Amino acid sequence: MLVTAKEMLAKARDGKYAVGHFNINNLEWTKAILQTAEELRSPVILGVSEGAGKYMGGYKTVVGMVNGMLEELNITVPVALHLDHGSYEGCLKCIEAGFSSIMFDGSHYPIEENVEKTKELIRICREKGMSLEAEVGAIGGEEDGVVGMGECADPNECKMIADLGVDMLAAGIGNIHGKYPANWQGLSFEILAAVKEKVGDMPLVLHGGTGIPEDMIKKAISLGVAKINVNTECQLAFADATRKYIEAGKDLEGKGFDPRKLLAPGAAAIKETVKTKMELFGSIGKAE
Ligand code: 13P
Repeated sequence: MLVTAKEMLAKARDGKYAVGHFNINNLEWTKAILQTAEELRSPVILGVSEGAGKYMGGYKTVVGMVNGMLEELNITVPVALHLDHGSYEGCLKCIEAGFSSIMFDGSHYPIEENVEKTKELIRICREKGMSLEAEVGAIGGEEDGVVGMGECADPNECKMIADLGVDMLAAGIGNIHGKYPANWQGLSFEILAAVKEKVGDMPLVLHGGTGIPEDMIKKAISLGVAKINVNTECQLAFADATRKYIEAGKDLEGKGFDPRKLLAPGAAAIKETVKTKMELFGSIGKAE
C-alpha cells in the first residue's frame, strides 16, 4: 500500500540520511526502481512530473500501475507516489487520482499567492491524509516544460511557507535540473544553513540530484536535506545502455528485437543508478 512521504522523511531527518525521489516515465522505470528499493530494503519516493503523467496515459493509469506492482511484485518497503512540480490544478487531479503525496510548485508566483495556494492545498491534503511539498526559490534549468531561473530561496519566505504546515520544503540553493554546466558555482550551503535556521525541523528537499558531487550531497544531508530528487541520471543511464545494445547489433540477433530484451539493459542500468544513489543517500536498510 502506498504511504505518504511524511513519516519516512521524519525518520530520514532524524537518522541523517535522505530518501531518494526517482522520477518515473513508464513501466520499466517503475518496476526497476521498486525492485531495487525492495532488494535494498530502502524507502523510496516515485516522482511523476505532469508531463510524464500525461505520457503514461494519465494520473489514474499511473496509480493503477504502481498499486498493481506493489501487490504483485510483493513490495513491502515504504513507497510514496508523489506529483513533482505540480500546478494547482495538477495537484487537485493527483489528489483525486489516488497519489499519496504531492508537490505544489508555487515558486513562480509572488510569495503571497504561493502562500494562499499552498495553504488551500494543505487543508485538502490533511483531509485526505496526504503529504505536501512546497517550493520557494526556483530550481534552475528545465524539467518537462517547467522552467526555473535558479534563484536562491529567501530564508524568510521559506519560514512563511514552512509555518503553514507543509511536510517538506524545496528551497532553491543553486541547484539545477538536468546536467550541471561546467561553470556551475556549486550549492550554496550558506543559504541552506540560513533556511534550516529559519524552518527548524522541517525536512528539506534537494532537487536536481543528477551530477551533484558526493561531498556536496553529504554536506546537504548533514544540514537537513532529507529528500533528494533524481531524474536525468536515470534517463542518461537508460539511453546509454539501450544505445550500446543497438549499436552492438543485439536487436538483430535471434529474437533480440523483443521489447522485453531490447529494454532489459536500460532497466538494469536504472537499477544500478538507483542503487548507487541509495548508497550515497544512506537509505539502504532503512525500510523498517
Ligand atoms: P535532475 O533531473 O537534475 O536529476 O532533477 C530531478 C528533479 O529535481 C526532479 O524534480
